[in-house]
Amino acid sequence: MELDLTKVKNIVFLTGAGVSQESGIKTFRDQNGLWENHSIEEVATPEAYERDPALVHRFYNLRRAQLKEVDPNPAHKAIGHLSQYENFNISVITQNVDDLHERGGVTKVLHMHGELRKIRHNHTGEIRYFEGQVEESEFKIWRPDIVWFGEAIKCSEHIPEVISQADLYIAVGTSSQVYPAAGLVSMASAQGIPTVEINLERTNMSSSYNTTLLGKAGEIVPEFIEKHLKVKL
Ligand code: OAD
Repeated sequence: MELDLTKVKNIVFLTGAGVSQESGIKTFRDQNGLWENHSIEEVATPEAYERDPALVHRFYNLRRAQLKEVDPNPAHKAIGHLSQYENFNISVITQNVDDLHERGGVTKVLHMHGELRKIRHNHTGEIRYFEGQVEESEFKIWRPDIVWFGEAIKCSEHIPEVISQADLYIAVGTSSQVYPAAGLVSMASAQGIPTVEINLERTNMSSSYNTTLLGKAGEIVPEFIEKHLKVKL
């Protein structure tokens, strides 16, 4: 399908683990997903935290520390570059808990699954910006401000509004297996917004998109922006 995107201004990106893969962050479903013999589900649930807060904090402490060793890749930077243009209004809805979109230059990022750089007080609910390691004495006082399996997503009140204002919806690097993120393409399509999927391989939602472009996000995202949005990166 030939896309005519000359009049596009408001663009919403939905991103998943695949957009950060080339930065060196592991995706969830491309390998066995085990961490020290625990499945992701075992360390990413409220029950796991109740049962073994030390294990859960160790997992997130490691992931938080890893943020200092990774950098935005060409996909993050291309979206960030686009955000700096007055002609475009860019919003990123991400399932990722890393900070690579922000460091790639995007200002409007909705973290629907929470953020590694935030912790939440178990009693007061206070959310604090945090880049260090949660210490043992604090394991039961603070929890990672991450959406675990079975918990409600964040930003749910803003997401429909952002999508309703979009002229173009682009999903990058998500397997589309986790809802409600996977269903946002249907929300966009129902409003007549053109939809594009960029992924290494087809997903079980590919047929819901107008176009699927296969390849690495770090290559396809910049190519798409230059070719269809006529922005020189
Ligand atoms: P997944 O690991 O499920 O899917 C990653 C997708 O990215 C796959 O379809 C890959 O083919 C694709 N991919 C991998 N490398 C890529 C690359 N370099 N360029 C383009 N595509 C690439 O990750 P998500 O869809 O993000 O939730 O998973 C969704 C949610 O499931 C996560 O946010 C997490 C997990 O449970 C929570 O932790 C709440």
